[in-house]
Amino acid sequence: MSLDIIVGTQWGDEGKGRLTDLLAAESDIVARFSGGDNAGHTVNVADQVFKLHLIPSGIVHEHTTCILGGGMVINPAKLAEEIDQLTPLGIDVSPSRLLISGAAHIITPAHIALDGAQEKSRGKASIGTTKRGIGPAYTDKAARRGIRASSMREPERFAELIREQVSQAGVLLTKMYGSEAPDADSAAVAYHAFAEKLRPHLADTASIISTALDQGKVVLAEGAQGTLLDLDHGTYPYVTSSHPIAPGAFVGLGIGATHVRRVIGVVKAFQTRVGEGPFPTELHDSIGEHLRGTGEQLWDEFGTTTGRPRRCGWLDIVLLRYAARLNGLTEIAVTKLDVLSGLNFLKICTAYQKDGQEYMDIPEDPSHLGDFNPIYEQLNGWESNLWQTRDWEQLPNEAMDYVRRIEKLTYLPIKTISVGPERSQVIHRMEEH
Ligand code: IMP
Repeated sequence: MSLDIIVGTQWGDEGKGRLTDLLAAESDIVARFSGGDNAGHTVNVADQVFKLHLIPSGIVHEHTTCILGGGMVINPAKLAEEIDQLTPLGIDVSPSRLLISGAAHIITPAHIALDGAQEKSRGKASIGTTKRGIGPAYTDKAARRGIRASSMREPERFAELIREQVSQAGVLLTKMYGSEAPDADSAAVAYHAFAEKLRPHLADTASIISTALDQGKVVLAEGAQGTLLDLDHGTYPYVTSSHPIAPGAFVGLGIGATHVRRVIGVVKAFQTRVGEGPFPTELHDSIGEHLRGTGEQLWDEFGTTTGRPRRCGWLDIVLLRYAARLNGLTEIAVTKLDVLSGLNFLKICTAYQKDGQEYMDIPEDPSHLGDFNPIYEQLNGWESNLWQTRDWEQLPNEAMDYVRRIEKLTYLPIKTISVGPERSQVIHRMEEH
């Protein structure tokens, strides 16, 4: 029983990279199981900031093997770029420790063009995607016409598949969307080179993970995005096209459920969202601005992948309870508690209201969230900056109350609290559990 799963419990950007970084120190394998370069994980180590979109954040720990699982969609251009960025920083990204599942699907320039064209055609109903080609690549996978990473084993054949896919999608792009189509020949040439570079990294990752688990090694499944962006269980259609929830780790890595030890839900101390879709506790006032930061502060709420300002609001416990149920959480890690410093009061949404009726849990699925109004409980805020705080007892009483209230409302222990962006700015809280 040594599989730990880290998932985002909100709309992504909860600070999962931070937690992965912490737990990777005690893990043998760190594996991503879903999504693609729509994710953006920031890891701060001393004065170096690592922004990773595809490679698991565990790569900064020398002893780990890092895996891009079969549930992912991979843009090889981005992966090659990340490898090239990490190499001069002294991080080993050789095929001995960075492995790619052959079952992962490949994002082509046509998928990226289609993502943009489809968003444009949706007009006011646009999803606000990251325009990284994620949806179209998963569409091709489900339609059983996608190109799998394993095809890179034969670069010539792979280039041919890319040429065919790009020219076929080109017809759709020009005829249906009136958009420009990427050039199929140059895509084929570029992808031939990517195949040459990446094919040594291909491996039977599902079997490697299973063997490691059987040997008692620790495997950390690193989630991307968040529960409310899950294709089936999120705020559909304002979701991503994969399964960022804990059960997605089994399918995305090709392993059974028997090895699970911990399912850790990462919860930002408040709520944020990029892209469109319902958000009951969203704030449009100066408190929302406080939570967002200015774009220059280290905590700022601007998307790691797209740079878009995040929508901000009060913590929503109704949605957190939903995430706890869906993921089977065993514990919570709270991030960015420091950002709440300086607010006179804090609010937590504990229930919803609709047509005079109160709901402790969402009555259906979260796609109908827009119909509900939040019911808040108010707590006292605190003034002091938490950046130097490392011990639970040193936190202001109001901050302790805030954390304990979340525990009480979710019936889950909070064992880790981050109070700043740097690796060491963490409170490990074991004593009360
Ligand atoms: P897509 O994944 O690019 O198709 O975007 C679908 C929705 O998911 C949009 O609202 C995106 O903003 C959101 N999204 C995708 N990846 C992330 C992420 O890593 N963090 C936050 N939001 C994301």
